[in-house]
Amino acid sequence: MEQRIAVLVSTVLGVLLLGVFAMVARSAGSSGTADEIAASATRWRRATLWGLVVLFIPTIAYSLTRMPYPSSSRQTAAVVVQAKGHQWAWEVAPDTVPAGQLVEIRVTGADVNHGFGVYDASDRLITQAQAMPGYTNVIRYTFPAPGTYRILCLEYCGLGHHTMFSQLVVTATR
Ligand code: CUA
Repeated sequence: MEQRIAVLVSTVLGVLLLGVFAMVARSAGSSGTADEIAASATRWRRATLWGLVVLFIPTIAYSLTRMPYPSSSRQTAAVVVQAKGHQWAWEVAPDTVPAGQLVEIRVTGADVNHGFGVYDASDRLITQAQAMPGYTNVIRYTFPAPGTYRILCLEYCGLGHHTMFSQLVVTATR
C-alpha cells in the first residue's frame, strides 16, 4: 500500500517537473530583451518554490502522523524487564512476561558492548538492541504468542561470546 502511494507521488511529481522543464524550454526560445527573460525566469523560480512549499507542508505534516513509533511510546508497558550483558552471560529479570501486552526491555551492558537479540521459536530475530555499558537502550515490544524466546548475543564480545544464551518465557494472558 505505502509503496503504491510512493510510486504514485513520484509519478505525479515527475510529470509536474517535466511540465516545468517543458515550459522553461519553450520560454527560452521566445524573443525578448535580456531583462525580460531574467524577469520571467525569476517569476518561474518563485512560482516553483511556492508550489513546492504548498505541496510539501501538508505532505510532511501528514506523513509525520503516520510514524510507526508514537502509538507504542505513549502506552505504559505492562512489564519492565531489566537486561544486562556480561562477559559472558545475560542477566534478565523478570524472565517471564505476558503475551499480547506491551513489554519494555531496558538493555544495558556491564563490561563491554554486547548485542541483545531476541529470537522466536522458528529462530527468527524479532527484536534487538545494543547492550552498552553506561547506557540503557529501551525496546518496546508486544510478544504476539506464548512460547520460549531465545536471547543471543549479536556482537562479538570476547572468547565466550558464543556462550551468551538466555531466554524469555512468554506466557498466555488470562
Ligand atoms: Cu556478548 Cu557477544
